[in-house]
Amino acid sequence: MIMSDIKNDIPKHLAIIMDGNGRWAEKKGKNRIHGHSHGVRAVQEVVEEAVQLKIEYLTLYAFSTENWSRPEEEIGILMKLLVNTLRSEFEKLLENRIKLNVIGNIGQLPEIVRNELEYVVDQTQNNTEMTLTLALSYGGREELANVLKQLAYKVKDNIISPEKIDQSIINEHLYTQNLPDVDLLIRTSGEKRISNFLLWQIAYAELYFSKVLWPDFTKKHLHKALTSYQKRERRFGKTSKQLLG
Ligand code: FPP
Repeated sequence: MIMSDIKNDIPKHLAIIMDGNGRWAEKKGKNRIHGHSHGVRAVQEVVEEAVQLKIEYLTLYAFSTENWSRPEEEIGILMKLLVNTLRSEFEKLLENRIKLNVIGNIGQLPEIVRNELEYVVDQTQNNTEMTLTLALSYGGREELANVLKQLAYKVKDNIISPEKIDQSIINEHLYTQNLPDVDLLIRTSGEKRISNFLLWQIAYAELYFSKVLWPDFTKKHLHKALTSYQKRERRFGKTSKQLLG
């Protein structure tokens, strides 16, 4: 596939469930942590390629609310990996004019992670080339419960009336309030599940499942997913004829 072909119909918002780090390591007889470290290589490659392809929004599922039930050692190393990666990639984010954004229950993260995230988010806030969103301690159901709670308080305090609650008001109260809907969702490792990721935001997303384990995922695999996306007809409930008209 020639790059210029791919560039014709690029999803505005690409979201990825990066799965299979543990299995990748186990297959090699190594500790799961080894898989996460190699997962960072794939993150770097995909972020760089996304910038080249002019994808405006890239959202990565890096740590779910459910991931807190993993062994403490694995959680600790994942958090360390995150801080180290934020530090080592900081200059590259600035050079490529990437804005870092975070979604999830950030208050649950260790202080060192929160501080690092706050710093990088602040330093990159005026960048306009691409918004890179990390979903951390993120759960779609928790996000929706949060929206309901905020709206219930606003109704109780007479800030809004129940009749005013519509889809756009819900959008404004999501963690993703500044992001458009997801156009393409990729999940690696062969699993065909959503796993509580962006439940509201993927209503009309195209889904792409790759068998490749995340540490092996390269720009070649990303191109394959984009080619598949570009062959699909997104009807948003309309007929093909209506789309042509
Ligand atoms: C899923 O693989 C992956 C994760 C839970 C963590 C993802 C983290 C990284 C790729 C590295 C750090 C991220 C950034 C953004 C710097 P799994 O452990 O569930 O794999 P398995 O299903 O094979 O066990």
